[in-house]
Amino acid sequence: MHKVIFDTDPGIDDAMALLFLHKHPQIDLVGVTTVFGNAPIDITTRNALYLGEAWSIPAPVARGAGVTLDADRKGGYWPTAIHGENGIGEVAIPDIINRVEDGHPAHQFIIDTVRAHPGEITLVAVGRMTNLALAIKADPGIASLVRQVVIMGGAFDVNGNVSPAAEANIHGDPEAADVVFTAAWPVVVIGLDVTMQTVMTSGFLAEMVASGGEDVRLLSDISQFYIEFYKTRVGDGMVVHDSCACVYLVRPDLFETRSGPIRVVCGGIADGQTIQKPDSRGFPPGHWDSHPSQLVCTKVRPDEVLAVIRAAIVSGQAL
Ligand code: BDR
Ligand code: CA
Repeated sequence: MHKVIFDTDPGIDDAMALLFLHKHPQIDLVGVTTVFGNAPIDITTRNALYLGEAWSIPAPVARGAGVTLDADRKGGYWPTAIHGENGIGEVAIPDIINRVEDGHPAHQFIIDTVRAHPGEITLVAVGRMTNLALAIKADPGIASLVRQVVIMGGAFDVNGNVSPAAEANIHGDPEAADVVFTAAWPVVVIGLDVTMQTVMTSGFLAEMVASGGEDVRLLSDISQFYIEFYKTRVGDGMVVHDSCACVYLVRPDLFETRSGPIRVVCGGIADGQTIQKPDSRGFPPGHWDSHPSQLVCTKVRPDEVLAVIRAAIVSGQAL
């Protein structure tokens, strides 16, 4: 069983990943931590609470960072064209009863949960890396107590999606991502190299709705806005970025990885670019030296990833 804290900025593809984590029989979702990204922190936190209520997810929600690690960084923009003004495809959101963890910000929730379950917690982070960076800076000792960190973010052998160099989750807080990649915990990075190949067609989603219940219907309603946006990028369907990271957790055999230290470009025209020095390559002394080797996913078997998502979300089964 994988005990997971899901760090997220819901977010339409985040919503699918949340439902997957909740339904997968080998995953115990012990907490949801929110971060700004697809929308401001008030909105992503409200969305996490709403989805938790709509899908009867018992995991507590802890509110996280609303600004970058480096407070001097200029604010970005909200990707309303992709996720909608409300972050979840403009579906109507009723009043919410659930509340966030009182006085327990996301990074502290991460620290406390990891310390309560040494060696057991996997952090799945699919938004900006700010909460994880805050946690490891406040308590560096958690690095050796975390089982694994699985991240959706970055673009290694392909272009980014917010600039030719950078992917959104990393570009939104490059300094935080660099802290996370260079920390002494095992990180696996699922970036655009593999997520852009993992496209769920609208027909595939419609079949999931036909064989699933109300939960899948809500997911589909939320996703239509995103599918409309992605018409300009992939033709038909949605790129299931964040779910790819969740599938890695239970089916790492569906991915190929490359090992080596990772650094993030902070500033300049390539702001937010992720660069790995493969372990197999030698270079003169440089910025990658003395940092831990992490894993970057370079290849994926998309059809099987989609089948794993469907089995969990529609029938609560592990494939
Ligand atoms: C990532 O950015 C966000 O818009 C998505 O939710 C995903 O986590 C893709 O670049
Ligand atoms: Ca996300």
